[in-house]
Amino acid sequence: MYTMCPVLFFFFLILANKINAGVMHSHSNDIHKERESDGAYSPRDHAHYSEDGDEHHSEFDHEAILGSHKDAEEYDHLPPEEAKRRLAILITKMDYNNDSHIDRNELKAWIIRSFKMLSEEEARDRLEDADENHDGKVTWEEYLSDTYGLDSYENNIDLGGENEHLIEEDKTMWKAADTNGDGVLDSQEWISFSHPEEHPIMLPIILEQTLKDKDKDGDGAISFQEYIGNRGGDLGKDELISEKSKFDDTFDKNHDGKLEGNEILSWVVPSNDEIAQEEVDHLFVHSDDNHDDTLSFEEIIEHHDTFVGSEVTDYGDHLHNIHHFEDEL
Ligand SMILES: *[C@@H]1O[C@H](CO)[C@@H](O)[C@H](O)[C@H]1NC(C)=O
Repeated sequence: MYTMCPVLFFFFLILANKINAGVMHSHSNDIHKERESDGAYSPRDHAHYSEDGDEHHSEFDHEAILGSHKDAEEYDHLPPEEAKRRLAILITKMDYNNDSHIDRNELKAWIIRSFKMLSEEEARDRLEDADENHDGKVTWEEYLSDTYGLDSYENNIDLGGENEHLIEEDKTMWKAADTNGDGVLDSQEWISFSHPEEHPIMLPIILEQTLKDKDKDGDGAISFQEYIGNRGGDLGKDELISEKSKFDDTFDKNHDGKLEGNEILSWVVPSNDEIAQEEVDHLFVHSDDNHDDTLSFEEIIEHHDTFVGSEVTDYGDHLHNIHHFEDEL
């Protein structure tokens, strides 16, 4: 354990908070960042483990239970007793059949509900950022200004390259999300626009755009070559083999060597249902102490910090941040 002078310690705390705040409030281009390297939409649980898989991030578990980034953060600052008290109220709502146990189906239904609430919260935050005149709706001009820093697309038509391509894609998404066709997105339409991968009405557009981007020979299907695309040079032999087996075994359901229609969507659009199922398994592993395949209220409260945050984990996070800054100096 190293020692640090108190003033420096305080400075690091402020720095850590500033950086956290910076991350939380920078929404520009958010919509485009949420992609995996192969072009698929990032799954809800993409931050559950660190990239090397060594580190488990409990924030994801807490958000899957609370259905809100903000609530999950608030729980991190609650004394454990208060967190337990609130969790006890929450689980009575989770217990649809009132048998004082949470079974796998009840937990899964709850988590799927949470995912929907998280999308809505994220969309609300983005709307607040983009909605310059605070009328609760976003115009195309407000969106361009917030996301690309453009005053008007028409005046910047020659900005060229990557942005122009993204803006074109956005415009197509925008039109699909604008179900009443008034050119403006209200809060409900905005949710479809910000999370197209979670909204059935948007899936045909996602399919169309994926083909436009990836289907180089224009045959309406994605070959393995096209699936790999520009990533080819960056992938080692093992990664290529693993991509090939993902292509053949997971996505190419009818094994005809190419992806079409729903096969393409199964690659590009993450399944919240599967993610919720995995999360149920994960939470059961950590809390079903007597292995009777159902969670008693006591088991959940006993493992409260698996389900929601507590002061203890928050304190740990601060230490972790400080270590990081120390490493970088
Ligand atoms: C469970 O209890 C709640 C609250 O008392 C009630 O509204 C609900 O109908 C009950 N559900 C079942 C399946 O009995």
